[in-house]
This record gives sequence, C-alpha cells and structure tokens, in this order.
Amino acid sequence: MAALRTALNGRLLQSLPVSFGSLRFASSSFKAGDLTIERNPVLKPKPDPSTLVFGKQFSDHMLTIYWSAEGGWKNPEIKPFQNLSLHPAASCLHYSVELFEGMKAFRGVDNHIRLFRPNLNMERMYRSAVRSCLPVFDKVELQECIKKLVEVDQEWVPYSTEASLYIRPTFIGIEPSLGVARAGHALLFVIIGPVGPYFATGGFSPVSLLADPSYVRACRGGVGEYKMGGNYGPTIAVQSEAAKKGCQQVLWLYGEEEEITEVGTMNLFIYWTTKNGERELVTPPLDGIILPGVTRQSLLDLSREWGDFKVTERKVLMKELIGALNDGRVLEVFGSGTACVVCPVGSLLYREKIYQIPTMQNGPDLAKRFHKELTDLQYGRKQRDWAPLVI
Ligand SMILES: Cc1ncc(COP(=O)(O)O)c(C=O)c1O
Repeated sequence: MAALRTALNGRLLQSLPVSFGSLRFASSSFKAGDLTIERNPVLKPKPDPSTLVFGKQFSDHMLTIYWSAEGGWKNPEIKPFQNLSLHPAASCLHYSVELFEGMKAFRGVDNHIRLFRPNLNMERMYRSAVRSCLPVFDKVELQECIKKLVEVDQEWVPYSTEASLYIRPTFIGIEPSLGVARAGHALLFVIIGPVGPYFATGGFSPVSLLADPSYVRACRGGVGEYKMGGNYGPTIAVQSEAAKKGCQQVLWLYGEEEEITEVGTMNLFIYWTTKNGERELVTPPLDGIILPGVTRQSLLDLSREWGDFKVTERKVLMKELIGALNDGRVLEVFGSGTACVVCPVGSLLYREKIYQIPTMQNGPDLAKRFHKELTDLQYGRKQRDWAPLVI
C-alpha cells in the first residue's frame, strides 16, 4: 500500500506490482513489437503550415490500444483516423474518467524528426492513469508506439522550423455502466495533427492576464497535478470571463494568501531582483496544485546548468508580485508550455486595477534565451539526449 500511496503522490516512476488486494491492474503491458498497421487508402492533402489552427487538423492515422480487466491489454493498432464508437454509458462520458498528454514532433533542419523529452510525458501520463484507476502500461512501449505512428504519418510533420506536429495521447474509461467505479474497460488512443507557431507574427507578443481570486483551477488534495480532462472543462467559463474583461489569459490564484499557481494552461515563471538585490527566477513548487510541465522542468534544468542567477521553486504570493512591481524589481514574467515554449506576460488586471509588467521592455532576454535553447534542440540545430529521433 505504501507503493500505491507513493504513486498517488505522483512520485512513482516504476511499474506497479500486479495487484493490491482488491485493486486490479493489468498484469502486463502492450508491446510496440505487437503493433499492427492498417494503412489508410485515402490520404488527405496536407495544409499549408502558415494556415494551421491549433487542434483542428488531424493526420491520416491514429493509434488505439484496448484494455479490459478480463483480457488485459490487446495489441496496439495503427489504423485510418476515424470516429470512436462508444457505449452511451461509457464512464469517460459521465464521470470524466479521462486523461491526456500534449507533446510534439519537430522536423529538424537536418530533416530528421525529433520528439522532446517524451519520457517525461510518458511518466506524467502513467501517474495520471494510476490516479484515474486506469490500467498501467510500460512507458517505453507507449513511446515506441507513438514514434511508429509519427513515422507512419511523417509527411504530416510540417517542413518548417516554425510549425510542428502536435501529439495527443488520450486514455479513457469505456466501462459500459453508470456505476461510479473503477473502469473494467479502457481505451488508450493517440491522435496527431500539424500545428503552427503560437505567435502569429513570428516574434513574441505579450499576453494580458486576469487575476481573480474568486476562481481556482485546482486545490490541494485534488487532481491539479494530473493531466485529466476534468481539470480543463471548468476553466473555459473563467477564460471567457477574462476575455470579456479584455484579458487574454487567466492567472490562477489559490487560497486565502492568493498564491500564484499557473497561467492559462502554462506554468508560471517570474524573473526579478529580490529585496536583497539578487537576480532570481522563481516558479511555484510541485505541491499538488501545479501541473508538472515538461517545459517547466526544462527551464529549471537549463537555469541550474547555466548558474547565472538564483533558481527557486517556492510559493509566491500575489502581494509579493504586486510589491515587486511597485518597487520596479520585476524583470520578466512568462508562462511555459509545449504550445509556446515561453509566453511573455505584459499586464495584469487584479482587483479592478491594471498593472503593467515590463517583460517586453527587458528584452525579454531570459525568455528569449530559453526559447532559443529549447527550439535549437527541437529543430536539431543543437544536439542533446532531450530530443530523441523518430526517424
Ligand atoms: C495546466 C497546465 N499547466 C502547465 C502546462 C505546461 O506543461 P508542458 O510544459 O508539459 O506542456 C500545461 C500543458 O500541458 C497545462 O495544461
């Protein structure tokens, strides 16, 4: 049980044993070596990379892997992209037994296709599966299946160092029953599609934020540190509220002290001068309410390697940020995520007052340095084991 508790805390990276008393997990994983491929006889025309809209175009194939409590994992299948057929009582439709991942494949300047730290996505997906009472799987085998799907649809990876192929692994409970219980049937599927640059103009453009303490994205003891669909649907209304007030994204606060947690669907970084005159990069810690971003981890790893400024993971309160803005100590505020790598923040609407954030006036030197370092690895301009080859 100690192992299970560790898993639920999101720290377990190894496979769980076969069973815990009445809790049942699949005894084994699917294997990439058992993959079958049914080629789509009708291939769609590829869109022009400059016209891509996020999440609207999909490739010609998809990966599906079915699981049942009785039979365990079936063989993975790559087949023509198609609609799913679900029982109307499927648990994903009623109780949000659903989780997903977001990752990308990039066509490099050398025409090789690379992923970016896919092992971290696989580990996060595994932790989300444990928390969702969905069966576990071998993370390396899933990564291999995903590579195969990208290889099959390799022409969908844009010939551009601005665009990329978005990969959406998804895992749903498809138990055909209305009981709120562990799903005995599940479907893991992966769909992929080309996406364009996050910033339409090519350069960075800063976003404006609404910070309204009356909303929270996640709470302690909840599931904010897992990538479950149920965390995202309820944010749409708050995002609309922000848009009504002329803001582009939501700055998520938490609790009486108004802890700063995340921004939209990105992790948040503040680069400032501390009261002691030190340069510091600070981001909230992974204490249960923060999604452990792959980009976040990469920015922290890079900063610690560079050693050019202090790097701190700690609780940051809204009053500290406002104080630092009033003192003129804030250099850059930016979000981090797979979609944009880094996204500068230009202003903040908080308790009816607009605060200007001088991110763009400061370069943003650090945000640009991060962006260059990560995109150099993704597009093969620099080599590192963070970006394994697909082909
Ligand atoms: C809530 C939330 N925070 C942060 C991130 C950034 O994570 P990553 O860097 O892995 O894309 C995401 C996107 O996955 C997210 O949905």
